[in-house]
Parts: sequence; structure tokens; C-alpha cells
Amino acid sequence: MEKNLFNFKNFTAADFDAVFKLAFKLKKERGKVDFKPLAGKSIGMIFAKSSTRTRVSFEVGISELGGNALYLDQSKMQVGRGETVTDTAKVLSRYLHGIVIRTFLQSDVEELGTAGSIPVINALTDDYHPCQILADLMTVIEYSGKIEGTKMVFFGDGRCNIANSLIESARILGYQLVIAAPEAYAPDPAVTLNSPWIIHETDPLKAAKDADYLYTDVFVSMGFEEESAERMKLLRPYQVNMKVASQAKKTVKFLHCLPAHRDEEVSGEILDSDMSIVFDEAENRLHVQKAVMAMLM
Ligand code: CP
Ligand code: NVA
Repeated sequence: MEKNLFNFKNFTAADFDAVFKLAFKLKKERGKVDFKPLAGKSIGMIFAKSSTRTRVSFEVGISELGGNALYLDQSKMQVGRGETVTDTAKVLSRYLHGIVIRTFLQSDVEELGTAGSIPVINALTDDYHPCQILADLMTVIEYSGKIEGTKMVFFGDGRCNIANSLIESARILGYQLVIAAPEAYAPDPAVTLNSPWIIHETDPLKAAKDADYLYTDVFVSMGFEEESAERMKLLRPYQVNMKVASQAKKTVKFLHCLPAHRDEEVSGEILDSDMSIVFDEAENRLHVQKAVMAMLM
């Protein structure tokens, strides 16, 4: 595995396997077995966007691995006043043993990891959310026993961070991924073209056919608020509701990275149904991130 987790560009199927294997072990042994690979280490957590799950699961995870977590509000750092990302990376590398960062630009995360000497984990940018997808796929393994051979359908913005990271993972792991999105929010064709198992479909009912997993995310991601009206109008037909779910397999499960906006991208009925496994998915953030930190840091 590489020093940094920016996205899945340089990830292999073996890297996914290794993360899942350790994550399942850590989940099983939580509170029972002492595992402190971060003892004596300090991890900086830079956040420029809001968070509930990511902040708490990383902070708890660092503490459970024996490390010390420092929450750093990006707007209060000197990088917000013109200090370069490169200088920040060089300075932080002298104090810390790793960085978790949630910000806007993917290029800032990559600059931080490239200029500094310590591992950097992407905790969400406008373009990617790899930690979320690791938790999602761990949840798929829990429910289906395996990822290969499953059909996942993602509804909504086919270019958002969640869709991009799902696409990257499907390209490596070879599960069937359908992106149900209007043309205006279709995934980048360069991304889907090379993989016969990644398909863009504009008809949400057709897309849902025989699905094992239905997945959606907010129609308006953090940082895209000025596009709200346009997004709501074009993405509204891609809501996951009972009509959509009726097209899927009887055993279909519903995934959402959360936070959810009830009755926008998903009906309250689906969210509250037995199909929904969103809290298992949220819990698994803790276990996969502990695995990634133990492996990188
Ligand atoms: N899914 C996720 O990343 O949630 P938060 O925005 O609450 O961290
Ligand atoms: N696409 C969403 C994910 C939130 C976890 C956003 O970026 O706001």
C-alpha cells in the first residue's frame, strides 16, 4: 500500500482485501484485545467542512489505537491566511505522525501528502470519499458474504465524491455498478467507458432492476449549495423510494453515506424500513479507518 490514501487510483484488490481483513478483526476484538499501533503518536485532523461521522469515528479510532488526535479547524489555521499547503505539510511533518483531512480541493490533499513526509488520509474532498466507500464495501461483505457478483445502483449526482469513489472501487473489484443519473449529472464518460461492469443509466426504474444494493447521497454536496435549485429539479426523479425498490431483488438493501435528507434523495419509508442498513454502514467507518490508520501510520 502507498504512504497516502488520496483515492483508490493506486489501490489494488489486495489492498482492499487487507483493509477488510484487519477491519473485521478489529470489529470482532473491539474492547477485548489491546491493539495500540498508534501509541506515542499524534494524528492531526484538519477539517474545512462539517462532519459528524468522520470526525467522531476518526477521533475515537485514533484513541482506541493508542494515539493522540488533534482536531484542527482549517479556517483557524494559517493556511487560511495564505501560508502554502506545502509549507504547512513540511511543518506538520515535524510534529505529527499522520494527517486526516477533509477539505474542498483534492489537489490540496495531494499536495499535503506529497510535500510532507507523513501519511495523509483523505476524509472527503469535492472529488473523492475513499474512507466512506471502504465502509460501504465492508458492509456489503457482511450482508452478501462477498463483493464480486453483487449489483449496486447509485442514484443521484454521478459526479459527486461518493459516485467517483464507488466507480474507482468497482473498476478494481469488478462488481456491477450502475449510476442512475440524468445526463447533466452523468459520470465522466472517460471513467465508465473502460469498464463493462460500470454503466450509466438515465431511467431510475430500469437501473434498479435486480439490484442487491440501492445507494444514494444528498443531491447537494457540501460546497455546491449555490446549485441547489437546479440540482433539486434535475435529480428529484432519482429519489430512492418504494417504487424504485420494487424493481430490485426481494433481498435488496439500502445504503446511504449519511447525513440523509429525508424525502429528498430517499423516502422516509425506505430509510426506516428493514431494507436500510445505513447504521451498520456508519459503524463500519470506525473499523475500516482504524485498519487504514494501523496499516499506514
Ligand atoms: N458520511 C460522512 O462522511 O458523514 P459526515 O459528513 O458526518 O462525516
Ligand atoms: N456528497 C456528500 C457526502 C457527505 C458525506 C458531500 O460531499 O456533502
